[in-house]
Amino acid sequence: MDELTAPALATRLHTRVIGRHLEVYDEIDSTNSRALLLARQGAPDGLVVLADVQTAGRGRLGRRWQASPGSSLLMSLLLRPPLEPQQAMRATMLCALGALEGIRRIAGLEARVKWPNDILLGEGKVGGVLTEVGLRGRRLDYLIVGMGLNVNLEVASLTDLLAPAASLKSGAGRSIARLALCAAILEAIDARYTRLGEGWSPHEEWRSYLDTLGRQVAVGTPEEVIEGVAEDVDADGALLVRQEDGTLCTVLAGDVTLRGHRVET
Ligand code: BTN
Repeated sequence: MDELTAPALATRLHTRVIGRHLEVYDEIDSTNSRALLLARQGAPDGLVVLADVQTAGRGRLGRRWQASPGSSLLMSLLLRPPLEPQQAMRATMLCALGALEGIRRIAGLEARVKWPNDILLGEGKVGGVLTEVGLRGRRLDYLIVGMGLNVNLEVASLTDLLAPAASLKSGAGRSIARLALCAAILEAIDARYTRLGEGWSPHEEWRSYLDTLGRQVAVGTPEEVIEGVAEDVDADGALLVRQEDGTLCTVLAGDVTLRGHRVET
């Protein structure tokens, strides 16, 4: 049995900041909601909340996040990095990189990123990141970075799918130990987190894993759908889309549909 408990994880973790404070639940409404509450009560940088089951797991753009018991890694990190609010995406990039490294180490799989926050295995979504920002006046107070990964999930059990889904088990052809995966991800995040506070940006490394660049895309934003070639990402993580009339559009947040194959740029 895949034992994902606070004592088991604490024994395994060799980190400086991330996961030094841990809460692990069999069931909770949402690990992001719990971490938000703790952040408002002054909980420390690096706190991690994990759950086996969420009754109200939240995805991006008001969607819900589904995961059956024992199938997934569902966790939220409370971070208090010395960043400006517009640099918050750096923390999301860093956690996505941590997920890719953990997946590589433990499952032996090369996952990639679909802008802005999806973790892909081939063309299937294997995970997602939801970052929520807490401000104090105009300063960044805290970030909650929530991550959901389909580890041993039977993809066929998911309903209401908007895009193809994948799981690490389906990719690797074997079950993946969630405890080892969780420790590897948190260690990979921790190793980069100190550097973030020193002014380093994960942008270049994150950019190198973006599956979206060079492809024809349709980006749904609350206002409109922007179509064109995803040319690049800027330092704050915004997507630069070259539209058919030649204009370059900066998209801060949205939902990408990849249209067809890579376009050479
Ligand atoms: C997405 O829409 O792709 C992001 C999904 C993020 C889901 C995770 S699961 C753990 C954490 N708690 C939540 O309620 N949501 C995030």
